[in-house]
This record gives sequence, C-alpha cells and structure tokens, in this order.
Amino acid sequence: MNILITGGAGFIGSHVIRLFVNKYPNHHIYNLDALTYAGNLENLEDIENEPNYTFIKANITDADTIESLFSLYKFDSVIHLAAESHVDRSITDPLAFVNTNVLGTINLLNAFRLLWGSDFKGKLFYHVSTDEVYGSLGKTGLFTEATSYNPNSPYSASKASSDHFVRSYGETYGLPYIITNCSNNYGPNQFPEKLIPLFINNILNNKPLPVYGDGNYTRDWLYVIDHAIAIDLVFHQGKIKETYNIGGFNEWTNIDLVKLLCAQMDKKLQKNPGTSEKLITYVKDRPGHDLRYAIDASKISKELGWKPSVTFEEGLKLTIDWYLNNDIWLNNVTSGDYQSYYQKQYINS
Ligand code: NAD
Ligand code: TYD
Repeated sequence: MNILITGGAGFIGSHVIRLFVNKYPNHHIYNLDALTYAGNLENLEDIENEPNYTFIKANITDADTIESLFSLYKFDSVIHLAAESHVDRSITDPLAFVNTNVLGTINLLNAFRLLWGSDFKGKLFYHVSTDEVYGSLGKTGLFTEATSYNPNSPYSASKASSDHFVRSYGETYGLPYIITNCSNNYGPNQFPEKLIPLFINNILNNKPLPVYGDGNYTRDWLYVIDHAIAIDLVFHQGKIKETYNIGGFNEWTNIDLVKLLCAQMDKKLQKNPGTSEKLITYVKDRPGHDLRYAIDASKISKELGWKPSVTFEEGLKLTIDWYLNNDIWLNNVTSGDYQSYYQKQYINS
C-alpha cells in the first residue's frame, strides 16, 4: 500500500510517520510537508533512510502539484495532518488558516477523487482533526461524536470547515473517509509556541511563564504517542464514514498544570521547590478563549479497544526529559523567526 501522510514533519505527524515506517515495512510511507516554521525534518532523522520512506516537499495549497503527485505515486490512502495549528497565530492571520486548512484539504480531496474516480475499494481518506471544532464546554459535560460543531477561533473554524468538506465528499462522491477529533496533545517534538513546550523553554531560560487570564481554563491532555497509536488503530480498524473522539481522560486547569510542570522542572533541575513557580505571570487573556474542552472517548475505547497508555505525570516527565536531552533541537527552532513571533505575541500582553 502507498500511504500518504501529510504534515509528517510536524509534531504529531512525525510520531505517526515513525510508527508506520517501523511497523509496516511492506507499506510505503510518503511524507508530504511544506516545511513551514512548524515542520522540521530533524524530527525524523532516525527513520529518514528507511527503504519504505520517502519525503516530498510540497504545499497542499498548490492544487496542480498535489494532483500530479497523486497521479505519480498512486496513493491508496491518505492520513491528513498538515495544518496551521496554533490558535494564537490564527487570531493574527486567519487567512493562512483558511488557505492551508480549508483549501489545502479540498485540494487533497479533489486529487484523491480524480485519481480513483468512483472505484474506492480498499482506499481511505483519514482526516485528523481537533476537539476544538465543538467549541467550549461549561463546567460540566463532555464532547461526544454527536456534539454539534460550534467553533470559536479562526483555527477551530477552519478545522470545522475542513471536517465538513471531508464529510461532504463522502456523501456526494462516495469518497471513503474517517475523521478523528482529538484533545490537546503534548510530548517530544512539539513546537515551543504551545503551552507545555513554551513553558519548559521559558523555565530553562528563566523567562516569565505567561498564563492567559485567570488560568482557570481547562484542557484534556493526551501524550502524543498515544494519539499516534489511536490513529494507527482507527486507520486499520475504524469504520468508513465514522467519526471517533480521542482524548486523555485527563482534565487539567492551566494553572494546576503549570504548577505541576514547575514542580517537576525544579526537581529535574535540582532547584529549590517553588523556584519555577515564581516565574508565573498572569497576562492579558486570549480573545474568544474557550473555557473548557473535555472528550468522551468511550466510542473508540469500546469499539476499538484503545485507551491511553501513559499517565499524565509519566508523560510530562518523559516530555521534560526529551526537551532537556534535545537542547540542540530546541535552540534550532527558537532562533530566527521564533524571536520575532515571541516579541509580537508576548511583549505587550
Ligand atoms: P504542527 O503545527 O506541529 O505541524 C503541522 C505540519 O504541517 C508541519 O510540519 C507543517 O510544515 C505542515 N504544513 C503546514 N502547512 C502546510 C501546507 N500548506 N502544506 C503542506 N504542509 C504544511 O501541528 P500538529 O500539532 O502536529 O497537528 C497536526 C494535526 O493534528 C493538525 O491537523 C491539527 O489540527 C491536529 N490536531 C492537533 C492537536 C494538538 O494538540 N497539537 C490536537 C488535535 C488535533
Ligand atoms: P495551547 O497549547 O495554545 O492549545 P489550545 O489553545 O489549542 O488549547 O494552549 C493551551 C491552553 O494554555 C489554552 O487554554 C491557552 C493557554 N495558554 C496560556 O495560558 N499561555 C500561553 O502562552 C499559551 C501558548 C497558552
């Protein structure tokens, strides 16, 4: 089977690529990525020479290139992760999110349809999405697969739109698809603009930890490798035209999470307890900030037998260890453009 994985040089995509390349030597894995600021081939150095792996530098917004790549490589299946993925960036530049997340997804759907016509036997378009499409929960309740979409940020609106297009191609053209909506991921290789790696990096550099608003926003955190394992399971055993929610059964308010992270960092860096917490700084809230996300993952759990393998405390320790052992990776991604992003995002907050 020729499997196209888009966004494979990014955070989650690189873990999915590694798992598939190592686990399925008889499948050929193509990694299509534009290498934006979030894409980094250093994430894949350990598997880049494997015979069943090919990297293709291309942009999913370029319809002609995408079409010719499908015609050249005859991809049987697609696992689509390429996206603009950071909410704060979507607030400053919504159009970039429409281009990649909406138009880019449509280009892939069109190319897939053009290649296989109406004979989709054994084919699959697997779209990786987020729980943020459901909008915000109040203090109680969980997102199920039946929760209606109510996106609040340009990021979640663009992901919601792409989910709708995927579903519409299933209904209109019979294109076989599966969508998964996952909660917040954390772990090795995450770009340090997202909460956990940003705060690890700031603690290492003795910089303030900018907590938005009162810090009482809640997220459901999942270790990235458990997400990759879920994607593998759904890809092979999920039902066509179904949606599966994936979550960590692991809700934390931001402030409690940051305090746990600070305590673990103090221990690891052999600092006095309470040292890193002193860096916590409450800053201006994110506009349209969703109060709470929490996933009911009982469908994937009951139907496919998936559950997270790592507790949050273990996953956080593994994550901290990874960042401490990969200071060259961290230095590389935080030089250059990152500095100007950081200035714009935080200096006046
Ligand atoms: P990421 O930002 O780390 O990586 C995105 C990758 O896509 C990068 O390698 C980038 O170079 C590539 N890319 C961006 N625009 C592209 C374009 N126009 N053409 C080709 N490649 C392009 O993102 P991530 O956190 O790994 O998220 C991957 C997917 O999972 C996204 O679709 C995201 O919406 C979804 N998701 C993420 C989370 C999370 O917590 N990070 C949770 C649920 C779902
Ligand atoms: P983030 O990692 O950006 O993920 P998402 O917005 O997709 O959930 O943020 C996680 C939570 O942390 C969210 O409630 C916003 C908050 N946050 C901060 O308080 N400060 C920060 O600097 C960042 C990046 C996020």
